[in-house]
Amino acid sequence: MSESQQNPAPPAGPEDRGFVGRSREMDLLRAALAEAKDGRGQVALLSGEPGIGKTRTAQELARYAETQGFRLLWGWCYDGEGAPPYWPWAGLFRTYVQQTEPDLLRGQIGPGIADIAGLVPEVGDKLGDVPEPTHLDPEQSRFRLFEAVSSFLKRAAADEPLLLVLDDIHWADEPSLLLLRFIARQIDDSRLMIVLTSREAEAAGNPTVIETLAQLSRLPAFRRHILGGLEIDDVRLFFRSEAGQDADADLAQSLLAHTEGNPFFLGEVIRLLASQGRHGQGELGLPQGVREVIGQRLRRLSDRCIQALTTASVVGRDFDFRMLGTVLEDFSEIDLLELLDEALEARLVEDTPGRSDRYQFTHALVQQTLSESLSASRKVRLHARIGEVLETLYGNRPENHAAELAHHFSQAAPVLGIEKLVHYALMAAHRRPGHCGQRGILSGHRTVEGHDHPGRRERLSTGDRRVPIQPPEDSGRPGHRRARRAVRGRGHGLGDAQARRNG
Ligand SMILES: Nc1ncnc2c1ncn2[C@@H]1O[C@H](COP(=O)(O)OP(=O)(O)OP(=O)(O)O)[C@@H](O)[C@H]1O
Ligand SMILES: [Mg+2]
Repeated sequence: MSESQQNPAPPAGPEDRGFVGRSREMDLLRAALAEAKDGRGQVALLSGEPGIGKTRTAQELARYAETQGFRLLWGWCYDGEGAPPYWPWAGLFRTYVQQTEPDLLRGQIGPGIADIAGLVPEVGDKLGDVPEPTHLDPEQSRFRLFEAVSSFLKRAAADEPLLLVLDDIHWADEPSLLLLRFIARQIDDSRLMIVLTSREAEAAGNPTVIETLAQLSRLPAFRRHILGGLEIDDVRLFFRSEAGQDADADLAQSLLAHTEGNPFFLGEVIRLLASQGRHGQGELGLPQGVREVIGQRLRRLSDRCIQALTTASVVGRDFDFRMLGTVLEDFSEIDLLELLDEALEARLVEDTPGRSDRYQFTHALVQQTLSESLSASRKVRLHARIGEVLETLYGNRPENHAAELAHHFSQAAPVLGIEKLVHYALMAAHRRPGHCGQRGILSGHRTVEGHDHPGRRERLSTGDRRVPIQPPEDSGRPGHRRARRAVRGRGHGLGDAQARRNG
């Protein structure tokens, strides 16, 4: 996985582009929020296909919730093996902890401080002395952690109503889902609303997610919203907002037919048309399928830009400038900045909110399309290279990044063997908070299971050590930003692209 064990703050919603449709869902979600504000906790699930607008709908609700005095906690789940357990929860609490005044925070966390600090190391940074937790067997420790988190949330919600969003739970690890179930059962008298988003098809392939949703759906405060495609009127509004002009009836119908009202597909197709100067034509001849649409947009980039992005796609959904530069040794720093600006302008990547010198693909489908364009053997070699670069970058403190290293070395096993994979997988297992026991540890590293490694089970079973997951250091290099601004100043900026599109 990428260094994105950092869970960025809530995605900065695309304020410049209008949110269309979804009035029925938004009415219901706003009503649920009002219930939660009155002390009747709520759980809502937004489900649907990729790109249908689950995250965006949650963002719109979050924006509204903030006007209603709610505090927002946003966590998202990682697509891939190697994420430590509870990663979405750790990310969700990180910003809260950082932004809450110490005395208030101490009171809200209460006696569970040792367990909470194991999950969110920032608690120790903020509150200083954190006691060592007493050691219990894994099941008991897990229960104690769940109790601690749930009590913390309830106390925090008593001070201020909370909207808690867990994005992409189809990718959540098993312990995170168990914690979700535990909390959801206890919030009926709390000022807390939980919003989950999930891709329907991917959730269907994950038994723990299915079981979690089945259990949640039995709660009286649970409501599921299945998002379908936008209607024709919304497609027209969407077009107007994207293209700055009206679509005639044929164009709107054609867009609807080709995209089935999926906002992501719509956005892609409209941008493609704009780039070809074909707005306003009745006969579209649109490409079928989003991969093709994305592929067409990618083909407009320079070869070197595609090469850089393809490598980045193997790093993960988000990536660090410095590490990408090291992997791409033939690219100078300034070259790479220009190439990333090219990708920013094409809206294929965006800055990661709150993280200098990190970028993320604007959509998982963009990353997937790029990564799938590589042959299996090339991908294996790239993982090997990325793993080795990360090992060098993290120097003699690899512990905090063990899961990420294990991920790349597991993918690189066909060329590098399994020694490093086993080394880092064990290191990651030893550093997990929450005491999920051997079953949890092994499930997080399915790749280790397949290999016979003497002593593995014995060593894994000692992995119940309370060491907090540290966030990877921010490589913060403001010089890059300045250089990028300078590049943008030469007329390649996003603003220019927007102006051209709208003009
Ligand atoms: N109702 C809407 N109005 C305008 N734009 C929308 C709407 N819904 C989604 N979008 C835009 O469509 C794109 C895809 O939406 P989003 O990322 O929310 O999809 P998703 O369902 O979360 O997809 P995934 O399963 O891949 O996470 C985004 O650019 C988003 O801003
Ligand atoms: Mg989403």
